Amino acid sequence: MSIVALAGACLPLGACSFEQSALHPAGRDAEALSGLTWFMFAGAVVVWAIIMGVVVYAVLGRRRPSSERFADYFVLVGGVAFPTVGLAILLVYGLSLLPNWRSDEPPDLRVEVKAEQYWWRLSYQLPDGTSLETANQLHLPKDATVEFVLSSTDVIHSFWIPALGGKMDAIPGRRNVLRLTPTKTGTYRGVCAEFCGPSHSFMAFAVVVEEAEAFAAWLSAQRQPARAGNAAFVAAGCGACHTVRGVTEAGSVGPDLTHFGSRRSIGADRLANSRDNLLAWLRDPAHSKPGVGMPGYAFLPDADLAEIADYLLELK
Ligand code: CUA
Repeated sequence: MSIVALAGACLPLGACSFEQSALHPAGRDAEALSGLTWFMFAGAVVVWAIIMGVVVYAVLGRRRPSSERFADYFVLVGGVAFPTVGLAILLVYGLSLLPNWRSDEPPDLRVEVKAEQYWWRLSYQLPDGTSLETANQLHLPKDATVEFVLSSTDVIHSFWIPALGGKMDAIPGRRNVLRLTPTKTGTYRGVCAEFCGPSHSFMAFAVVVEEAEAFAAWLSAQRQPARAGNAAFVAAGCGACHTVRGVTEAGSVGPDLTHFGSRRSIGADRLANSRDNLLAWLRDPAHSKPGVGMPGYAFLPDADLAEIADYLLELK
C-alpha cells in the first residue's frame, strides 16, 4: 500500500528523489516518525472505512433498527468508547516515541551549526579540543549519535534533515540541542524549514552519511590546510570574507572555502558545483540567490574570474 500511495503522491511532482523524504528514513528518529505516520495513516483508513460503511448502510440499508436502546448503544460505543480508546492508543504510542534530547550521555560527535543569511556555518568539535570549520555540507558517521548545537546570527532559521529526524529552530542568542543518529549510508538533503527571507528556500545542505572509516578519512582530509594560494583570489579581496586555511584566515563573514572543491554545491545547495555555475555565481550571486550577502564580481576581467573559479575547484 505504501508504495502505491507514494507513487500517487509523486505523480504531480514528475520525479521522486528520496534525498529529502521523511518517509524514507535513514536515521533512528526518522524511523520512529515514519512508523508513527504509517500507523496514523492506517488508523485513519480503518476509521474512514467504518464511517463510510455506516453511511452506506444508513442510506441504502433496508432493515431499520427499531429500538431506542440500539441507538443509545450505537452512540456510546461509536461516539464515546471508540474515539476514547483510539486516541488513547495513539497518545501512548506517540509519547513512547519522544526522543531523549536531554540525555547526559556524551554524544559520539558534536557539530555546532550556525544559521546565516542564507547558508550553514558548520563547526566540528574534535576530541583534542580544537574545531574544524566548514559550510553547507555535513558528513556524519553511520550509527553515531550526533549532537547538533544550533544557533543563528540574524533571524530564526530551522534546521531539518527529513531523512534523519525532526526539525529544530536555530534562534539568535540561544543554543538549541538536537541529537540525531543516522542508520543508513547515503547522501541526503537538509533544509531550512522556517521562512527567513527572500532566499529561505535556497538554504539547503547536503548530508553525507558514511561508514566510520570513510568519515574519519574525510575529517582528516578536511583538517589539512589548502595546498596553495592564488594571486587572483587574493587580489580580488575574497579573503576579506572567506577563509582558506593556510592562505588567508582573516575573513569569517562568508563560508570557509578551504575544501570548497570537495563540496557538491555552490551557495548552500543552490547550484551544482560546476565551473560554469561557479563563474555565473561569482559574476552575480544575487541572480541565483536574492538577498545573499556576497556582492557580484562581474567587473573583474574574465581571465581573473576564470582563474579564481579554477582555483576554488582545485581546493579538494
Ligand atoms: Cu533560513 Cu529559512
